[in-house]
Amino acid sequence: MCGIVGFTGKDQAVPFLLQGLQALEYRGYDSAGVEVLSPDGELHGVKCSGRVATLAERCRTANLVGTTGIAHTRWATHGAPTDRNAHPHLDCSGRIAIVHNGIIENFQELRAYLARTGHTLASDTDSECIAHLVEDAWAGPAKGDLVEAVRNACQRLQGSWGLAVVCADAPGEVVVARKGSPLVVASTPDGAYAASDVTPLAPVTSHVITLDDDQYARLLPDGSVTVYDADGAVVDHPGTLDIDWDASAATLGGYPDFMAKEIAEQPEAIERLLKNRLGEHGIELDELSMTDADLAAIDRIYMVACGTSYHVGLIARAIVEEWAKVPVVCEFASELNYKEPLVTPHTLCVIITQSGETADTLTAARRMRGMGCKVFAITNVLGSTAARESDGTMYVQAGPEICVCSTKAYTAQMVAAVLLALRLAYANGSMRLEEVQQHYRNLCTLPDLIREVLKRSWQDQQAAKLFRNAQSSLFLGRGVNSTTAAEGALKLKEISYLHAEAYAAGEMKHGPIALLEPGFPVVAIVPADHVHDKTVSNIQEVIARGATCIAVATDGDEEVAKLCQNVLWIPEVPEEDFVPIVAIVHLQTLARYVARSRGCDVDKPRNLAKSVTVE
Ligand code: F6R
Repeated sequence: MCGIVGFTGKDQAVPFLLQGLQALEYRGYDSAGVEVLSPDGELHGVKCSGRVATLAERCRTANLVGTTGIAHTRWATHGAPTDRNAHPHLDCSGRIAIVHNGIIENFQELRAYLARTGHTLASDTDSECIAHLVEDAWAGPAKGDLVEAVRNACQRLQGSWGLAVVCADAPGEVVVARKGSPLVVASTPDGAYAASDVTPLAPVTSHVITLDDDQYARLLPDGSVTVYDADGAVVDHPGTLDIDWDASAATLGGYPDFMAKEIAEQPEAIERLLKNRLGEHGIELDELSMTDADLAAIDRIYMVACGTSYHVGLIARAIVEEWAKVPVVCEFASELNYKEPLVTPHTLCVIITQSGETADTLTAARRMRGMGCKVFAITNVLGSTAARESDGTMYVQAGPEICVCSTKAYTAQMVAAVLLALRLAYANGSMRLEEVQQHYRNLCTLPDLIREVLKRSWQDQQAAKLFRNAQSSLFLGRGVNSTTAAEGALKLKEISYLHAEAYAAGEMKHGPIALLEPGFPVVAIVPADHVHDKTVSNIQEVIARGATCIAVATDGDEEVAKLCQNVLWIPEVPEEDFVPIVAIVHLQTLARYVARSRGCDVDKPRNLAKSVTVE
């Protein structure tokens, strides 16, 4: 949901700003813009609707010169994605520029006030108000101090912001502010940097300063960074974070797109997560920050997440209930926020969020905490808000996920949830150590099984051809694989714009069967499990109506091979509950091939953003 970057230092600002925007483009790509403070003492900028590549092209002809600047890539909330609504936004004098990520909730009131007091607003956005409020403060109470001016302006805002500001009358300074939208800054010998997350900073430093809500920072060209609190007092020891991501992890590295790269990275991601997890007393999960007694006392778990991460929660619910015998409620965060959860003194809330910044998930976590729950986060992004606000955090260590649709974080989050289930089951006496060890050994086979599926991507490429003339499609599965069906359908929808509906296979006859007609593509997940024969019956029903069935089946399944035109084969998986972690790899790859055959940009699907920081 919008990415912001800022730089002040020795070198020209534009190359880093554009590179930074490219790294953050997964956050939004409706429009983009850059503003630099030039040697003539004026602000000069370029902004346009469209992608960062379009902005880069415009910057080449505009020849922007200057060593201090800010930039933005937008996911529109207020105001259409047009040139004039693109950030940066300027004040009336054109000497103050801002970029903003978040939502200003009282913008209507502020716009009316600004219009009344003689300001001219040039866009339809909520963000532009901030530039004019900084303008007022700069000329008034801030007495020429940019941090004070920004602090003063922020006091009038309601909502959320990650903000970067430059002012032609404060040469060399970039001031940033944070409330509710992520922001990190870095101090280096070559200059000081700011960004919405660590991805653009990985090539320049391995150490960043993480701002808390209601904090501000002044960045100077000598690389110094000073952090201030809500009252304007200097914060002596701001939060810091070491980035252990190799900068090349956020580049394509020879793959045609990030989705292909991230699908291929799944075996290594899971290996990293599983490394050194088995100890004398079962699964090592120190991140939980809970004693065995605390864990044994848990009487209910809320799994809370959105989108793909919610699908992790659904599968985790089945496994935790089966192994740890603890009842689990799995809720969309956006739904839980308007319900009254049944919380006991021993309820654990597990939030699952790749980005760690999803607004609905964070709101739910805060609410559950407010009700006395301990909150445990399963997340991928280092230093994310979810990690910082939770009682315990498990990083899934999948590395930066740049493609907007989630792939490697999904499978890594599932493995993390399985580890949590094992830890709980052992702590509360539902599982013996030998059983834990066996499950762990089985988990450790998954990377190689996924490698095997990756080698079979030609099967997905073949199957993708069956979607050529489709207007819609149906995904079916039973048990944990009804969720695999849901996740496969979500992948297909979001990147190929082809409608896909997911259903528990046994429910098909209660409605969706009416959709079937000759050539209609149906994907059925039918591994060798305890419901195999039931799912085969559903496949029969599909075929009897002339629909085209694409099965995901286990090697050697002659029955399915005879029935279906196309089979996406998976090797035998040692536990039924782990099949979703292997089978989904075919469906990710299938979705990618379908999307590419329809000419879609798989990494940047329309209307979506990687981190949804608005409710
Ligand atoms: C789908 C996808 C989204 C996210 C959802 C939650 O491929 O990526 O559905 O899963 O927006 O995001 P996180 O996990 O960052 O909270």
